[in-house]
Amino acid sequence: MAEVIIKNLYKTYRSTTRKVQALKNINLHVKDGEFFVILGPSGCGKSTLLNVIAGLETPDSGEIKIGSRTVFYKNPEEPRNTVNVEPGRRNLSMVFQSYALYPHLNVFENIAFPLRIIGKKALKKLIAREENIPEERIHKSEIENYISEKVRQVASLLEIEELLESKPAELSGGQRQRVAIARSLVKKPSVLLMDEPLSNLDARLRLKMREELKNLQRKTGITIVYVTHDQSEASFLASRIAVIKEGSIEQIDTPEKIYSKPATIFVGTFYGSPPAEVLPIETFFEVFEVPQQAREKIPQQARYILIRAENLSDKPEKGTPHGEFEMISFEKVGPALIATVSSSKSPHTSLKAAISQPRKSAESKSASGIRLYLKEATFFDPFEKFLKFVKFSIS
Ligand SMILES: Nc1ncnc2c1ncn2[C@@H]1O[C@H](COP(=O)(O)OP(=O)(O)OP(=O)(O)O)[C@@H](O)[C@H]1O
Ligand SMILES: [Mg+2]
Repeated sequence: MAEVIIKNLYKTYRSTTRKVQALKNINLHVKDGEFFVILGPSGCGKSTLLNVIAGLETPDSGEIKIGSRTVFYKNPEEPRNTVNVEPGRRNLSMVFQSYALYPHLNVFENIAFPLRIIGKKALKKLIAREENIPEERIHKSEIENYISEKVRQVASLLEIEELLESKPAELSGGQRQRVAIARSLVKKPSVLLMDEPLSNLDARLRLKMREELKNLQRKTGITIVYVTHDQSEASFLASRIAVIKEGSIEQIDTPEKIYSKPATIFVGTFYGSPPAEVLPIETFFEVFEVPQQAREKIPQQARYILIRAENLSDKPEKGTPHGEFEMISFEKVGPALIATVSSSKSPHTSLKAAISQPRKSAESKSASGIRLYLKEATFFDPFEKFLKFVKFSIS
């Protein structure tokens, strides 16, 4: 097992028509045994980051360490010290979104593949080291036994022992996925890199597989770096999440902190479901009536306010900002009823609110109107950076 340390990493793609800065000054430290998730919208550089860790892409400059070993180092000021360890020697394995299995090989041979390609000589060495016997004493049959034992171990871990004789075409999507994961584990990598490995599965299977992945990580203690653009997957799996926007890291934190203390407006609106809405502070004062005691809690430098559905409710609470809204639509999200509302004072403003029942409020003036109370909200400065989470309700 190993940690992954990345310092000042840059990567630019250049073609005749385009120059894309895919990674800009990436710094992160994945701890040993951590389930680390890289989260961000399409095109933000997630796969690029995974590929440079794997050695499949070469960064412009920076440093990558896996365990205590530097696998990449490049600083234009000291060109003689450049290091670039080839992918096969980085002791990691990767599961891609399209987890291509070899169709002509059965499941056993698909899983055994990474062991077979390292060659008989290297395998002999490995067995000699693991079993503490001289290389000369290892016979051909023992190599086969070793491979068989390793394949069966990972197959049992992923509960696919009964599939070992089948061909990939005979398997369901989830079973194929498990074979791909078993294949990635057979060589006991120190780090497992996964690029959207569940995105080809249907919704039900995705939920099941992500639980299995989490269990697998707990059982093996392996360090996993996992890429997704799905925030619910990220919050379920991750011990920590790095949120990326346009090649830069916006925040690295636990799922709870990313939600409760988003470093930037981008993180606040990207993470959370339904997505939070952001208003300029002037619009907030137009739309809401803000009692003095609430006004005093708002930081001086506040330029934007972020409102999540759960912050806004139809339950009256003393001292909270409140306003009159028109209800546009409802949706049931789990046990909650989420209304989309707009304000006549600022017609382009649309907010989400968690309400108790889809009927007009007695206090409201118009038929489809509802009075809503803002229990709490998050404030950001003019640079869209986090300022403060403010609780308006007194209870
Ligand atoms: N081989 C390449 N050549 C040129 N540009 C590339 C190449 N690979 C990726 N890019 C560009 O680099 C940026 C980051 O791409 P990347 O594939 O890392 O994004 P991503 O976050 O994985 O997106 P997705 O969620 O869609 O998979 C994009 O703007 C993309 O167009
Ligand atoms: Mg990608």
